[in-house]
Amino acid sequence: MASKLALVLSTLLLAVNGQAYDGGDRDEDAFSWVQPLNTTILGPYGHSPAVLPSPNATGAGGWEEALQKAKDFVAQLTVEEKADMITGTPGPCVGNIVAIPRLGFKGLCLQDGPLAIRVADYASVFMAGVSAAASWDRDLLYERGYAMGREFRAKGAHVALSPVAGPLGRSAYSGRNWEGFAADPYLTGVAMEETIMGHQDAGVQATPKHFIGNEQETMRNPLYDVNGTVGAVTFEAISSNIDDRTMHELYLWPFANAVKAGAASFMCSYQRLNGSYACENSKAQNGLLKGELGFQGYIMSDWGGTHSGVASIEGGLDMNMPGGLGSYGVNWKAGSYFGANATAAVNNGTVPESRLDDMVIRIMTPYYFLGQDAEDFPSVDPSTANLNTFSPPSSWLREFNLTGESSRDVREDHGGLIRRHGAEATVLLKNVDGALPLKHPKSIAIFGNDAGDDTEGYYNQQNFEFGTLTAGGGSGTGRLTYLISPSEAIKARAAQDKALVQQWLNNTLIATSNVTDLWIPVVPEVCLVFLKTWAEEAKDREHLSVDWHGDDVVYSVAKSCNNTVVVTHSSGINTLPWADHPNVTAILAVHYPGQESGNSIADILYGDVNPSGRLPYTIALNGSDYNAPPTTAINTTGVYDWQSWFDEKLEIDYRYFDAHDIKVRYEFGFGLSYTTFELANAVEVESCTGSETVSSRPEAQPVMPGGNPALWEVLYNVTASVTNTGGVAGATVPQLYVTFPSGTTPAGTPPKQLRGFTKKTLQPGETAEVGFELMRRDLSYWDVVSQEWLIPEGEFVFNVGFSSRDIRATAKFAPVA
Ligand SMILES: *[C@@H]1O[C@H](CO)[C@@H](O)[C@H](O)[C@H]1NC(C)=O
Ligand SMILES: *[C@@H]1O[C@H](CO)[C@@H](O)[C@H](O)[C@H]1NC(C)=O
Ligand SMILES: *[C@@H]1O[C@H](CO)[C@@H](O)[C@H](O)[C@H]1NC(C)=O
Ligand SMILES: *[C@@H]1O[C@H](CO)[C@@H](O)[C@H](O)[C@H]1NC(C)=O
Ligand SMILES: *[C@@H]1O[C@H](CO)[C@@H](O)[C@H](O)[C@H]1NC(C)=O
Ligand SMILES: *[C@@H]1O[C@H](CO)[C@@H](O)[C@H](O)[C@H]1NC(C)=O
Ligand SMILES: *[C@@H]1O[C@H](CO)[C@@H](O)[C@H](O)[C@H]1NC(C)=O
Ligand SMILES: *[C@@H]1O[C@H](CO)[C@@H](O)[C@H](O)[C@H]1NC(C)=O
Ligand SMILES: *[C@@H]1O[C@H](CO)[C@@H](O)[C@H](O)[C@H]1NC(C)=O
Ligand SMILES: *[C@@H]1O[C@H](CO)[C@@H](O)[C@H](O)[C@H]1NC(C)=O
Ligand SMILES: *[C@@H]1O[C@H](CO)[C@@H](O)[C@H](O)[C@H]1NC(C)=O
Ligand SMILES: *[C@@H]1O[C@H](CO)[C@@H](O)[C@H](O)[C@H]1NC(C)=O
Repeated sequence: MASKLALVLSTLLLAVNGQAYDGGDRDEDAFSWVQPLNTTILGPYGHSPAVLPSPNATGAGGWEEALQKAKDFVAQLTVEEKADMITGTPGPCVGNIVAIPRLGFKGLCLQDGPLAIRVADYASVFMAGVSAAASWDRDLLYERGYAMGREFRAKGAHVALSPVAGPLGRSAYSGRNWEGFAADPYLTGVAMEETIMGHQDAGVQATPKHFIGNEQETMRNPLYDVNGTVGAVTFEAISSNIDDRTMHELYLWPFANAVKAGAASFMCSYQRLNGSYACENSKAQNGLLKGELGFQGYIMSDWGGTHSGVASIEGGLDMNMPGGLGSYGVNWKAGSYFGANATAAVNNGTVPESRLDDMVIRIMTPYYFLGQDAEDFPSVDPSTANLNTFSPPSSWLREFNLTGESSRDVREDHGGLIRRHGAEATVLLKNVDGALPLKHPKSIAIFGNDAGDDTEGYYNQQNFEFGTLTAGGGSGTGRLTYLISPSEAIKARAAQDKALVQQWLNNTLIATSNVTDLWIPVVPEVCLVFLKTWAEEAKDREHLSVDWHGDDVVYSVAKSCNNTVVVTHSSGINTLPWADHPNVTAILAVHYPGQESGNSIADILYGDVNPSGRLPYTIALNGSDYNAPPTTAINTTGVYDWQSWFDEKLEIDYRYFDAHDIKVRYEFGFGLSYTTFELANAVEVESCTGSETVSSRPEAQPVMPGGNPALWEVLYNVTASVTNTGGVAGATVPQLYVTFPSGTTPAGTPPKQLRGFTKKTLQPGETAEVGFELMRRDLSYWDVVSQEWLIPEGEFVFNVGFSSRDIRATAKFAPVA
């Protein structure tokens, strides 16, 4: 039935869109309109069935009242006003929907990004997603999301373009992994949920992005011809070709948490997905997101990610951002795929007005739900207009009345929060003979260009040779109002011990010197080496080493200093080839911790905070050990030829290394503490449903945000007991990895998958019981035949430990009789 309807609508689109289609199989999505489907070439996936029409919002999940307000609002709009509501226009914010003064609607302000309100002054720069994930701490994730949300709102932003679950981290090299959380759907899912609840509790709409399959930056957008002519494309963007099971169990998983958390809006991604552009892929938008997951909000395009009018509207896209045509959508004068084209398409009967209404209803429902219509919702800070290089005032086509105080300081006391978070998310990877914490050293040497103050300002630190690095680049960066460097913080701290502190920040000098010549005559008690690794949007990483000859710096220092402590600021994975060097006594991975970086690090170095971060990815022995590298080149010239086949399926990060028994340097979930912990042998599995066993198939319940509510039902509680066996207080992160029964679970299931974690602070000698609540989804695989989540028959193994490769206790249990 769905497929028959799809056939009819696709034919309609073919007739009215006026483009040259191939005349091929109409029972497929936009992809098939522009390229004949050849399943011999494409194989079992790489093409996308049409799922039409786009479902209407119902307000399910508590939005019913807000939905009614949205409907009442839409009832008063002209078709032109409706078109304004779905189409961005240049204005003070990164994305703008114009006001409708006659209805008292003040417009919508959409602002980047996932670690700060970027286009702003007097706002905080929080830690990046990768750092937040490394905390493995639900409370921290919520606090961060909430504090960020307060700053967005106080600056007058209705919508925060945050958080990120795409990229998930399929490839170690992807340029935007740091904006997201972990190379694991479960941890990322929890992080999405907490962040979104934090943002929205603060009154700001969250925008989980980039939906979906945005796993590399290279060729994420089409390559227009040399003259940039709109429509003249040399290559269409890369197509992420993902099979159905992998889609559900990896890439869609954290987005399901996002919908469950009540996310207001979604941002579709730049690249193609199984052949058609993600922002016009009806299978992804209508089928998976609005249908299967019951998403009640709206989908906006990534900036310039809209490549059609009618096809995108029918395919489920609700808002075109930033609204114009051309690369990144900023060619405002060239028109828009939405805007007047949407009006025309409704007026000439191509698009039913009910679809346009649903787009606006979806946009306005979360607005009312979050009380953004309140008189006291802050105005857009006028200062944003001048900071916005994306659509400066000279580009504006519509009127914006900027009122209220300019350059409002919205930072509150968030500096203290960011400092604490930065320390709590730091991962201690190595600590030999108690090198850390420092014990009042009287002589300290600091090395590396990442140690000192930035010398070229505080924004987009890409090419700064000198200066500490706290965020990556692109739309996900932040504008620092101040920055505590490691050098500054350590000097302040060392002053309490009246210590001698010497520093060398020139990496070339350090790498090419005999450092004993530098520090003469005082031999330092500890050598602190600070390294940095940049990554940014629109570019994938070329290597997994640290930048600026950082490895040579470590070797040079460690050659002469038997207490070398290395600290990395990094977007994520670094291979750390010197990790086993006997003189490298400690390693700290701080990632991108935000504006209080130096203080956070000093708190860890001196033991004020006991490290409790854990790796949210795997550090392999060699860069070449990682699978699924980005597709960086093709040898053919066909317009559609950029393809990325996700043939590794479920085997990303630790799932891959475990499945192939590959040795790694530091595994997923690993991290040390200044104290020690033990897990008792006994792992218990308690039923939470009143019956020991459960059905394989979930009860069919009406879809709610997040999907079938039965999938979120807690079925079992796996409990274990953890003890702090060391001498100081500290937090640890017991983790639960589930091994699915073999034989009854389809081939390709990874040996172990994270399905629970909990961060627990314990005093010396203290023991606590920890529980991992397993929902139905946690025990299910996606069955591509029945299109259901099924719990396989047979015995599961519940592995509890301190990392993915440090399993301390297990229990076996068969949930399905
Ligand atoms: C599909 O591709 C295969 C392999 O290139 C080719 O042999 C076959 O003729 C193609 N089929 C059609 C219908 O074009
Ligand atoms: C959406 O609701 C309108 C009535 O408001 C109805 O005409 C239309 O058919 C519905 N669309 C879908 C896809 O159910
Ligand atoms: C680009 O513009 C130049 C100068 O107008 C023209 O000579 C050239 O043919 C154009 N290239 C393409 C691919 O359209
Ligand atoms: C309609 O869309 C086309 C691209 O398909 C664009 O060239 C044109 O300018 C748009 N019209 C308006 C009025 O925006
Ligand atoms: C209706 O309007 C849309 C958008 O401008 C256009 O693409 C389409 O060709 C028009 N169809 C007809 C039948 O006029
Ligand atoms: C801007 O302010 C003027 C004067 O108060 C008012 O007439 C106009 O409607 C306002 N425009 C918008 C977009 O709010
Ligand atoms: C860093 O050291 C190298 C090697 O001694 C030197 O050539 C270079 O000029 C130094 N850079 C700065 C900025 O001092
Ligand atoms: C480095 O300098 C020290 C002190 O001058 C000296 O003892 C040592 O031999 C030098 N090492 C090298 C490799 O030059
Ligand atoms: C470690 O440092 C000491 C100096 O304290 C040095 O003599 C030794 O050679 C270093 N070891 C290595 C493996 O470089
Ligand atoms: C490390 O080097 C220092 C200074 O040269 C020396 O006093 C100390 O004994 C060395 N420690 C070890 C474990 O080699
Ligand atoms: C392109 O062709 C070269 C030479 O045949 C080959 O080595 C390379 O792997 C090919 N690259 C791709 C992306 O297919
Ligand atoms: C699971 O166990 C933990 C630890 O005993 C407990 O705190 C939690 O309430 C339990 N959850 C359920 C649903 O029973």
